Amino acid sequence: MTIKTSNDILKVSEGNDLLKVASGNDILKVAGGNALHGHVKASGAKNAITKLLVASLLSDKKCIFYNVPSIQDVEITVSLCEEIGMSVAWDRDAGIMEVQTKELKTSYIPQRFSGANRIPILMIGALLGRTNEDIIVPTVGGCNIGTRPVDFHIQALESLGAVIEYREMKKEGAYLAHAHNGLRGTLIQLPYPSVGATENTILAAIRARGTTIIKNAAIEPEIIDLILFLQKLGAIINIESDRTIQIRETRKFYEVEHTVIPDRLVAASFGMAAIGTKGRVFVEDAKHIDMITFLNKLREIGGGFEVKKSGIEFFYDGPLKSGIHLETDVHPGFATDWQQPFVILLTQATGSSVVHETVYENRFGYTHTIKTMGGDIELFRQCLGGKPCRYSHHNFYHSLIVKGPTPLIGKDIVIPDLRAGFAYVLASLIAKGSSLISGTKFIDRGYENLVEKLSNLGADISRISDPRTKPDKKVKTEPPQ
Ligand code: EPZ
Repeated sequence: MTIKTSNDILKVSEGNDLLKVASGNDILKVAGGNALHGHVKASGAKNAITKLLVASLLSDKKCIFYNVPSIQDVEITVSLCEEIGMSVAWDRDAGIMEVQTKELKTSYIPQRFSGANRIPILMIGALLGRTNEDIIVPTVGGCNIGTRPVDFHIQALESLGAVIEYREMKKEGAYLAHAHNGLRGTLIQLPYPSVGATENTILAAIRARGTTIIKNAAIEPEIIDLILFLQKLGAIINIESDRTIQIRETRKFYEVEHTVIPDRLVAASFGMAAIGTKGRVFVEDAKHIDMITFLNKLREIGGGFEVKKSGIEFFYDGPLKSGIHLETDVHPGFATDWQQPFVILLTQATGSSVVHETVYENRFGYTHTIKTMGGDIELFRQCLGGKPCRYSHHNFYHSLIVKGPTPLIGKDIVIPDLRAGFAYVLASLIAKGSSLISGTKFIDRGYENLVEKLSNLGADISRISDPRTKPDKKVKTEPPQ
């Protein structure tokens, strides 16, 4: 089929309903009060494997991934990649996935993937080098924790020679992109070390002529994992000490075997659950080097941990003490994704702590619910306690003071986003009484078999289907605070 104008293209990719983000609208029933004890394994990192799958589209060679978590975000990414021609064999029990994209079936990502997760926008970077055809990707989604624009992605790809246009469509917008004249390596200075923009630029740079230099790049462990994968695939990529990443044009590709790094966010989640419930849990595969800042803060509040040969044991080591200043930041700072459950721990610590969220402007929405459960949390628009951040002149509630210890009481609550979801589970595990937590589809995006894993550690938690919602009906989220 020959498609002549961008409007024609949009018609082709339009039409279907939005992809259903996750399986269903189950409810978690949690009776709080049980201390968690035992052994759990940190699964492969969601924010690594989803990008690795997209990166594998750069070549026509076979790639085998190990330690692949069976979570909804991987399901969505697999569907997205299959749509454009990837063949996928996934042994979910073994966590092994073999993929190959011998040729692209299409470079139009259907609109039903709009809003599903953050991955579609990365398709531009990967596909620009693989095809001279026009590329269409729908707008991206992911957790509702801020406006989450993609302007840094677009600017960087345009600097490499891509032509990108945004079009409004019936339901959602879409990006039209091409590089009919090829991509050329250049110097790109990111305004902020954005994870996604760094990944997108690296992907596009692999096939760009010459060398691309990214200044102020993100260096999260998941990005390093992506770079390791790309090196196996054939790339030459240097990481310098000052957030500079240099990518050389790659023409020869190889088959790859790659083990996905353990999920530092999941590992920390189980660690916080062990300490919050006054228990002791060994998190196999928790990777010390990726968790330094988290462990520092945990030690400051008196949380126990011991780094062992094959993981980290987390344990309650007496009453938690507050009085810290915690500022989220890009890696190697304290990850914003640790912030929500950490605030739950702080509700159990003696004294007051200040938390300053500098990565997202709207990541405190969950505190409203925690307050109804008994948490003593006050939100502020100012940058409290530390250096002014990007939001210092805006009107966002992005600092808080949390006082403790306060007993938490079980409630019927609705999850607004993935990490808030774990924070709610943690609060419910600590709380007196029972909680019913709906909106499980958010948790399913990033936590593999969470209910089974927590049950095995001794939690009183079960999953029931929600009689109040029809399947796939959108779950209501709380208003931002
Ligand atoms: C990734 O999101 C992660 N998601 C997030 O994890 C994580 O919180 C975030 O990085 C920060 O570590 C995935 O990897 C799929 P960013 P990403 O671009 O890449 C602003 C989870 O729970 N920005 O580093 O979207 C943006 O608004 C999720 O697993 C722009 O302004 O994050 C944000 O304030 C939640 N323009 C900040 O930068 C842009 O073009 C950081 O975003 C891009 C980003």
